[in-house]
Amino acid sequence: MKQEKVLPAAITIFGAKGDLARRKLIPALYNLYADEHLPDQFSIFCVDFLTIEQGAYRDWLLEGVDQFSRTGKADRQKWAQFSKSIIYIQGDFMQAATYTTLKTAIKKFEDTEKVRGIRMFYFAVAPRFIEPIADALCNNKLCNRDTLDRIVVEKPFGTDLDSAKKLNRYMSKRFKEKQIYHIDHYLGKEMVQNIMAFRFANYVFEPLWNNKYIDHVQISVAEEVSVGKRGGYYDSSGALRDMIQNHLLQLLCIIAMNCPKQYEAEAIRDEKVKVLKNIRPFTTEQVFKNVVRAQYTAGRVHGEDRPAYRDEEQVAKDSNTETLVAAKFFIDNDRWKGVPFFLRTGKDMPRQSSVIMIQFKDSPHKIFKDDVLPNRLMISIQPELEIGLLFEGKEPGLHMKLVPVEMDFMYKGNYMQSLPEAYEALLLDVLEGDATQFMRADQIEWAWKVVMPIIEAWKKSPKKGLQFYEAGTWGPKAADALLKPHAKAWYTFDHESEGATTPAAFDDSHAPSRVDGNGTPEMSNPAEKEAEQETSHA
Ligand code: BG6
Repeated sequence: MKQEKVLPAAITIFGAKGDLARRKLIPALYNLYADEHLPDQFSIFCVDFLTIEQGAYRDWLLEGVDQFSRTGKADRQKWAQFSKSIIYIQGDFMQAATYTTLKTAIKKFEDTEKVRGIRMFYFAVAPRFIEPIADALCNNKLCNRDTLDRIVVEKPFGTDLDSAKKLNRYMSKRFKEKQIYHIDHYLGKEMVQNIMAFRFANYVFEPLWNNKYIDHVQISVAEEVSVGKRGGYYDSSGALRDMIQNHLLQLLCIIAMNCPKQYEAEAIRDEKVKVLKNIRPFTTEQVFKNVVRAQYTAGRVHGEDRPAYRDEEQVAKDSNTETLVAAKFFIDNDRWKGVPFFLRTGKDMPRQSSVIMIQFKDSPHKIFKDDVLPNRLMISIQPELEIGLLFEGKEPGLHMKLVPVEMDFMYKGNYMQSLPEAYEALLLDVLEGDATQFMRADQIEWAWKVVMPIIEAWKKSPKKGLQFYEAGTWGPKAADALLKPHAKAWYTFDHESEGATTPAAFDDSHAPSRVDGNGTPEMSNPAEKEAEQETSHA
């Protein structure tokens, strides 16, 4: 169905000859068009410095859609219609002439359509171009109507707290906050959006969603992919900046936040900021106890040889950049005091698995001798979309014997339609002026504040504690050891064995802490007390 509220749009992509434009942005815009979500009047101005013919550029994009779109090969008729609106503009981002050409092209579109609609400027560029492009947009009055003109900025938003603050100040002098959409594509993922619905539309979980009943939370984004051709960017970034500072902390916020006043951008972002502010900061010493970093060595993933990180293109031979991070955070507020949030992400792991696992405390009073497994709520974000509650039940038969079972909600089977890609959802949000799933500038700064002690400690001691893991494995032992005494190993959703119902999925449980008769945590476990003190404020 056509969304009548989307105004005519002039969409500009800076960095249009890049990977993001070809793999994500154009396929997303094509699918929005095919599903009739784009306005009737739209034009896509694709700006980059490489010289290429219009036709050749469109063909190059079509190959990208065929290869990467969730809907498979593009419908040739629809593509022919859609691609008429794609205009390649060759231009250097640092040259004034580029913006004169762009302005003329946008004006021509608006004059022809007799409408001054939305202007969206997507910065799919290296960080060094953000300021010059922002400046040029401002000087050319290309993005000057705060209700209609929007900028979309891709991460990284700075490389540390200072650079992020500087960038935010720079942007805020030129544009209103509401014009700037800081994109974190994890927030556009279907299951990530569903976590909000799950938490705040189902009151049954709310009374349990705290330190009285939750033992610990694991947020794990395991990637099968390696650094590949992105070594140039990645080697100065690493997993901490590339994934933890943004995607994983955003997931943590959604799990830990309080119910916002309403489902509205500012209210939601306010609640997320409160979570980030309450994350307990590390001292240098605590960094080395609570954060594991590691780098992959050569190995095999799905039978394919993978080089060591240090042998990847554009990576320094003696690089200490981490490709895996596992960290234990605490949130110092009433709801979460004492509950560890374990975050892990890594590349070149055996398979893709992005999962959030909430482990509940064990029963305070046991009447079955084989009641040994804690309840777990498992939220699988990708590749499978699934929410499962793991519990113990009676095995059918003559005797009272417990077995682990699972209550499951799976997208596959429940919904027939193919799901929109994160970029589709987010680009449509920008066109509709809905910033709910985007990060606010202060949120970005608070997320940097959380990781700054880690960045600084690693900078001071670049080799200290750096571990290595073979490509195609789940990472170093130290990453598992971090979970003690709460679990033995990271929970990984096993979609190959149809969910996590297998007893093996429970095997990694460690004696979880209990609640006493009043529902207050006993904290009888000495190791947990120690963990609690380990990271507490001095
Ligand atoms: C990006 C990171 O933001 O997210 C990449 O820069 C990472 O390194 C990617 O691979 C993961 O996204 P997804 O959607 O594939 O989980």
